[in-house]
Amino acid sequence: MRVVLYGVGPIGSLIARLLNSKDGIELAGGIDVDPSKVGKDLGVVIGLDRTLGVSVVHDSQSWEFLKSVKPDIVIVSTGTYLDKIYPQIVRSVAVGADVISTSETLAYPWYRYPELSLLIDELARKNNVRVLGTGVNPGFMFDALPALLTSVSARVEKIYAVRSLDAAKRRYSFQKKCGLSLSPEEFRSKVALGEITAHVGYAESIMLLSSMLGVRIERIVEEQEPVVAERYVETQYFKIEPGKVSGIHGRAVGYVNGTEFIRLDLLASVGRKDYDEVIIEGDPEMRWRNELGTPGDVATAAMVVNVISRLTRAPPGLLTMKDITLPSAYLGDYSQVSTS
Ligand SMILES: NC(=O)c1ccc[n+]([C@@H]2O[C@H](COP(=O)([O-])OP(=O)(O)OC[C@H]3O[C@@H](n4cnc5c(N)ncnc54)[C@H](OP(=O)(O)O)[C@@H]3O)[C@@H](O)[C@H]2O)c1
Repeated sequence: MRVVLYGVGPIGSLIARLLNSKDGIELAGGIDVDPSKVGKDLGVVIGLDRTLGVSVVHDSQSWEFLKSVKPDIVIVSTGTYLDKIYPQIVRSVAVGADVISTSETLAYPWYRYPELSLLIDELARKNNVRVLGTGVNPGFMFDALPALLTSVSARVEKIYAVRSLDAAKRRYSFQKKCGLSLSPEEFRSKVALGEITAHVGYAESIMLLSSMLGVRIERIVEEQEPVVAERYVETQYFKIEPGKVSGIHGRAVGYVNGTEFIRLDLLASVGRKDYDEVIIEGDPEMRWRNELGTPGDVATAAMVVNVISRLTRAPPGLLTMKDITLPSAYLGDYSQVSTS
């Protein structure tokens, strides 16, 4: 199975290293815009201790490159917003490749980008390939996992999912997008201007989860507030004085018949305990909890790699995790996975 990495930042590189450890996968090259990566051997760029004999080309060369390589799969890990990554998806689909992307808005693209979604769906069907957005969140913690847990529910009244994590353990880019060390006013203004995003994907998770359950959500409310440090704290990258931002509290609610049906809470601040929890009110009552938390980067890379074995069995078109038979770790040989 020939795979091209479109975007070899931290996530694309982690995915590439995991793919490289699998049987039956051939890393066929990378595409990026970062001058420090373009023109170099992919193995060097993704942090292997050896070359792979294929290089990272600039995005401006991507069309010729994809046409010559003819990959089975393109992994797009370049950005969050579908309108920005749309040309990358179109080029990949046009050469007959399945696309898996970590773009948060692609997890349920019809919510923010209904017109682009239609175009991608049509093009994917025409080329007999699939396009899927997935990762740890959206893609699993706030949507596919709660949906799976309801498999044993006779009645579901409300779903409540919490992701709690220590922001100090996360990468610089995560800490920056959560506004660490800013004043609460700076945080709010930068979020309003789109200069920082904090988490993106609450609404996508609500739409994805409700679509899996066959429930029509009538209204979604998303909000993110800064968590303010009560005492001095620091991370590897930021020194945070009391009164400054040490994390975020993001929440989103999906309403059905005027009442809360899905509630999501993301608690990410310096020193917080790592854990994930899903509570399902109904029959039976259920509380699932992972006391260890789920490290986001490795979980995202693993989801992308593991889902390949299910994606290739799915029908062509623009898909969501709803269309994928339950993913699990895939430990087999990828050359045994059908690409047709
Ligand atoms: N769904 C999930 O659970 C999940 C989890 C983790 C991450 N994500 C998302 O996955 C994406 C990748 O994460 P990351 O941390 O690796 O992001 P990143 O640090 O921004 O890396 C993205 C890479 O793609 C390059 N790039 C940007 N525009 C490009 C283009 N037009 N063509 C080719 N390459 C391009 C970037 O170059 P420059 O640096 O020069 O711009 C960079 O090398 C992000 O959008 C992130 O939010 C989703």
